[in-house]
Amino acid sequence: METFQYSFDCAQQLDKEDPLFSFRNEFLFPKKDSKDRIYFLGNSLGLQPKSTKHAIQKILNQWELEGVESFFSEEDPWLKYHDKLVGPLSKIVGALPQEISVMNQLTVNIHLMLVSFYRPVGKKNKILVESKAFPSDQYALYSYVRHLGLNPDEVIIEINPDKEGLPPTNDEVLKVIEKHKDELALIFLSGVNYYTGQLFDLKSIAEAANQIKAVVGYDLAHAAGNVPLSLHEWNVDFACWCSYKYLNAGPGAIGAVFVHEKHHHENLNRLEGWWGVKEEQRFLMKKEFIPSPDARSWQLGTSPMLLLASLNASLEIFEQAGWDQLLQKQQKMIAWTDFLLNSFDQDIFDRITPAQRGCQISLQFKQNGKEIYRKLFEGGFMIDWREPDVIRFAPVPMYNNFSEIWQFVQALKEIINELSLEH
Ligand SMILES: Cc1ncc(COP(=O)(O)O)c(C=O)c1O
Repeated sequence: METFQYSFDCAQQLDKEDPLFSFRNEFLFPKKDSKDRIYFLGNSLGLQPKSTKHAIQKILNQWELEGVESFFSEEDPWLKYHDKLVGPLSKIVGALPQEISVMNQLTVNIHLMLVSFYRPVGKKNKILVESKAFPSDQYALYSYVRHLGLNPDEVIIEINPDKEGLPPTNDEVLKVIEKHKDELALIFLSGVNYYTGQLFDLKSIAEAANQIKAVVGYDLAHAAGNVPLSLHEWNVDFACWCSYKYLNAGPGAIGAVFVHEKHHHENLNRLEGWWGVKEEQRFLMKKEFIPSPDARSWQLGTSPMLLLASLNASLEIFEQAGWDQLLQKQQKMIAWTDFLLNSFDQDIFDRITPAQRGCQISLQFKQNGKEIYRKLFEGGFMIDWREPDVIRFAPVPMYNNFSEIWQFVQALKEIINELSLEH
């Protein structure tokens, strides 16, 4: 257990002891008056690695020099580029490399996974989702259920929809699974809730799903690159995520899916495209679909090389920093943030993020929230505001440090004092 002192000296000491401190130099920070802003929005759009430009430029150069032959060129052939990504990603999400397919965007992938994994049979036709899920997940689920000719109001069960806009606790999820055990075909939850930053106990939920023979799938948009995951070991059926948050691959970056290897040779319904054909057969242009023997069989069209390159640039930095080291630093940052936030008066804000969390913390303000947010932003802090009263921020171990957290807390204190004097 770490002991902290409430002082800037302590923050600086923690930075001195941080073996990952220099990794912030690998990233480009937005500026205010030519000074780096304090960027706490890795939960929304991670920062740009300095190496991204170079990685994209390399693809442009190959395209310029070799044209379409770049797919097969001797040095760094585009056809094999996908292989470079699955190794590092598999460490981050706890999968086998062949269980990962880098493709599309998250919402598209949710649809593709529903095609394969929502298999209603008789009265076992219900889908369990969390209340306060990200809207795109809800749109995907509701529209897909309607597409099948089913009524979403009859088929989709939202856990505790009336709970003041907050997601359910893990226990509530487990109770609802037990209650509907004979009817559930699919359990689809986020790993980390986007609004509160709550981390679900994905292992216990997967176990409960396995026991009642329901499929379990996770949206890991806010979990991948943020919290420890063991998707293979937990026997999760599928998962999908985007790469522009904690994975720093840029706006609209390419997403990825995990499909457990136990499903690779099953005769599942799947939307098919030529990029899902086994690599050796793909260019034979046969009518018959011969699937890749792994998660890549879910791929549809040609890999977008510029997007793969920007994800690769970021994953190389994850490899250098080491996933375990990043998680260790994250735990220390969480403890430091909690320690500093404990110094606030209880009636200013509620921490709506439970103890089980990753980098993100959400503060629900009892008054003046928007004004506080605006003043923090003007003061050089990049955090975000969620209506009606929540400030979210996420110090990430890759490029944030302990002194920045200290500065944030001091600025928050000053603004709160100022406002209580003014009003
Ligand atoms: C939890 C969650 N699901 C889905 C999405 C939508 O992702 P995309 O725009 O990449 O389809 C997001 C985007 O932020 C998200 O946070």
